[in-house]
Amino acid sequence: MRQKILGIVTAVTTFISAGTAFAGPEAEVLHWWTSGGEARSAAALVAEFEANGGTWQDMPVAGGGGDAAMQALRARVLSGNAPTAAQIKGPSIQEWYSQGVLADLDDVAKAEGWDTLLPASIANHMKCGGKYCAAPVNVHRVDWIWANADVLARAGIDMPTTWAEFNSAAKTLLGMGIIPLAHGGQAWQDATVFETVALGIGGPEFFHKAFVELDMSVLGSDTMEAVFDQMRIMRGFVDPNFSGRDWNLATAMVINGEAAFQIMGDWAKGEFTAAGKSPGKDFLCASTPGAGYLYNVDSFAMFAVKGADKIAGQKLLAKLVVGESFQTVFNLNKGSIPARIGTPLDKFDYCARQSAYDMEVASGNDSLLPSYAHGMALRGAQAGAITDVVTNHFNSDMKSSDAVKALVAAIKDSL
Ligand code: GAL
Repeated sequence: MRQKILGIVTAVTTFISAGTAFAGPEAEVLHWWTSGGEARSAAALVAEFEANGGTWQDMPVAGGGGDAAMQALRARVLSGNAPTAAQIKGPSIQEWYSQGVLADLDDVAKAEGWDTLLPASIANHMKCGGKYCAAPVNVHRVDWIWANADVLARAGIDMPTTWAEFNSAAKTLLGMGIIPLAHGGQAWQDATVFETVALGIGGPEFFHKAFVELDMSVLGSDTMEAVFDQMRIMRGFVDPNFSGRDWNLATAMVINGEAAFQIMGDWAKGEFTAAGKSPGKDFLCASTPGAGYLYNVDSFAMFAVKGADKIAGQKLLAKLVVGESFQTVFNLNKGSIPARIGTPLDKFDYCARQSAYDMEVASGNDSLLPSYAHGMALRGAQAGAITDVVTNHFNSDMKSSDAVKALVAAIKDSL
């Protein structure tokens, strides 16, 4: 009997190795999670993939916000050597789909019940021609302000609830020789601050008209001029060495008390916690002044690749990232909240719970808005046109009225 079984095993092994040589699910994954907190989160994903029998080939491309990663991705796809999976977000998922290079994930989505596990607002970003073509890992909120708790206590200031309060707190801090705003002068970081100011000053409807609908009268409005005025004021609150600084180094300035505040999405919380800091004790979080919620959903899209190992790797990855265990562990490290409905939040801190609560409120009152700065609202050309103006204004003495004119002209050119 034993002989017979061994014979069958040998025959099966021979058959497999003579055929497709299926070695198990494998994935080469392109992403830009390279800072301390991001790398910890990515490691959680690798661990889960490997624990489920997958082989992970990492392709990290450094550079916050993912501009460098997207360039690397384009080069890979153009040379006919697409990775198995890549961190791609928002409308660029559909842009890649229209190039005919993405794989269909609908069978995994159906088997796992994604339509009931994901909020419709998130599910829509993951679909191409009505079918799933990407898997969401989280919901990051962009409109956050972070602070060093000790610095604020010493300065006798509270978390600002209006931009006027922020400006006056910043003046107090300047008087004490503390950098009010930790900032990295990279275009995407300028855009991150700008969109939170635009939401705060203009409100949700203004934001939607300007950065989702590209309404010319709103882009060219007095309110938009007031947004640029506030950006000009804030330029006075950053230190002289801000140009080119990476976002996580700006977060480090708040962690070590060199600066008081940073305006950044909640991936910044991943840096605080990776440095062993506790929310409410060492650092504080609050939504930036104003109403609404700017969301930024990270996701993986899969490319149409050949090979049973790779296809199995894609299916495994897609299944795992929407799973409850991954959504919990990853987001605890990343600073974001789970995208999957019903994931328990008991292990999450007060910032994450506030995010989840505010997201629900915002989705009920039309103020849940896609982040333009993080590629959730617009296709690349339009988002890039806005960011060019924002960054040119922030890094020069351009008048707000000229910035508004430049914004309208840039959008007209990009359409
Ligand atoms: C965002 C991304 C986040 C975070 C951040 C900084 O665009 O969604 O996951 O990594 O960039 O790199």
